[in-house]
Amino acid sequence: MRTPEEIRKQILELTREYSKAMHGNNLPGNDAEHAEFIPGETVVPYAGRVFNSDEVEAAVRSTLDFWLTLGPEGDAFEKELGAFLKVKRSLLVNSGSSANLVAISALTSEKLGDRQLRPGDEVITVAAGFPTTVAPIIQNRLVPVFIDNDPVTLNGRMDQLEEAYVEGKTKAVMMAHTLGNPFDLSVVTDFCKRHNLWLIEDNCDALGCQYDGRFTGTFGDLSTQSFYPPHHLTMGEGGAVNVVKDMRLKVLVESFRDWGRDCWCASGKDNTCNKRFGWQLGELPEGYDHKYIYSHLGYNLKPLDTQAAIGREQLKKLPHFIQARIDNWNLLRQGLAEFDDCFEFHLPTHASGWSSEGFNWDGTGHKTVCSWFGFMMLIKSSAPFDRREFVRMLDGAKIGNRMLFGGNLLRQPAFVTLKRQNPGAFRVATTMEGADRIMKESVFVGTYPGLSGDMIQYMVECIRNFVLKSRR
Ligand SMILES: Cc1ncc(COP(=O)(O)O)c(C=O)c1O
Repeated sequence: MRTPEEIRKQILELTREYSKAMHGNNLPGNDAEHAEFIPGETVVPYAGRVFNSDEVEAAVRSTLDFWLTLGPEGDAFEKELGAFLKVKRSLLVNSGSSANLVAISALTSEKLGDRQLRPGDEVITVAAGFPTTVAPIIQNRLVPVFIDNDPVTLNGRMDQLEEAYVEGKTKAVMMAHTLGNPFDLSVVTDFCKRHNLWLIEDNCDALGCQYDGRFTGTFGDLSTQSFYPPHHLTMGEGGAVNVVKDMRLKVLVESFRDWGRDCWCASGKDNTCNKRFGWQLGELPEGYDHKYIYSHLGYNLKPLDTQAAIGREQLKKLPHFIQARIDNWNLLRQGLAEFDDCFEFHLPTHASGWSSEGFNWDGTGHKTVCSWFGFMMLIKSSAPFDRREFVRMLDGAKIGNRMLFGGNLLRQPAFVTLKRQNPGAFRVATTMEGADRIMKESVFVGTYPGLSGDMIQYMVECIRNFVLKSRR
């Protein structure tokens, strides 16, 4: 009879063999073993899972251990992500949307005293982006106040923050580093400090971005990550809330993630506080089991331990993934340099221009490093084609492409209906030319690490041929 250890070893060896045989398409684009690319036949995705047998083995190993719920792998991942970012704590959740929901919910806790967010308080955000950066604000009976986006950086127009601010009402800023481009953290952190506001950075599309040499997601009070497949690292579904400095927030984030409970015992532990039967809270009898005391109206938004096991392998590859995104963006930018008359190309915050030597920087002294989520182009009105014609060409050539998620969210049916049914549910502080331009004119293609040099070359050629033909 074989021992369980021997069986396990064989399963894991076979798993690696299987993955090597099966997942050639999911290897990094520059891996010699990557599946063959046939121009015009192979799809060039805009994003996707990049992994090898390490992740598949980790998933199977964790499944065989059968801990299932968040446990040792989750614990280790949280520590490793926190150490990578240099934040006090990272806490896993089951998606980036859940991370945003938990982050803003945590700030509604009564335990924060006069800093508690209360119904009707205003939270400044931006109009163009992903809906679940904003939805949790409304779900918490807070009022999002929209400023416009800059169409070139895609980030919030920070010169509009003061216009959106109302003393006594504005209590927080919650916005995303759009498409892997840090927003102007110098202006935003200064604004938040001056008015004593919370800052939540939605870092879901921006893991690995830097602002003045420091990772984004480490400037606010809380920040969030998504680990859905198109993102910088994946565990299928998954996300994290980063607690940057203030450990009071760690307990609150955990509480909202874990049913609203008061107890902070890890899964499988019973008496971390050493007074499990020594509490009297609410109107419960003295000594009521702390494990079942609820100080918030919470959720259960934990992922599985297997997801964390996959994430740990991905995290080891993250620096390479980030570099590949930068390299792929540069190759595309270089390849399309002659078409400035047709496209307004994405620029990093604080960059004033691009040349083949690199970016030129504005006079602020601040610099950003983008961990590009995609390669964004706005189709100029002077171009001899419009966006619809351009995306049809991309689709025909099997080149994956996307718009900036929900475009101007205020134009989405959900927001139009909300405005009709509850006009006070949100406030629009400025005009929205930038968000509308992004909605109407922008499209992005991939920069993800699964793209090979041949794929990038193919994208450049297809775009070049299309532009030259349209000009004739
Ligand atoms: C900026 C931003 N925030 C939040 C999310 C939500 O993440 P998830 O899909 O993991 O819920 C996304 C999704 O891609 C996003 O782009």
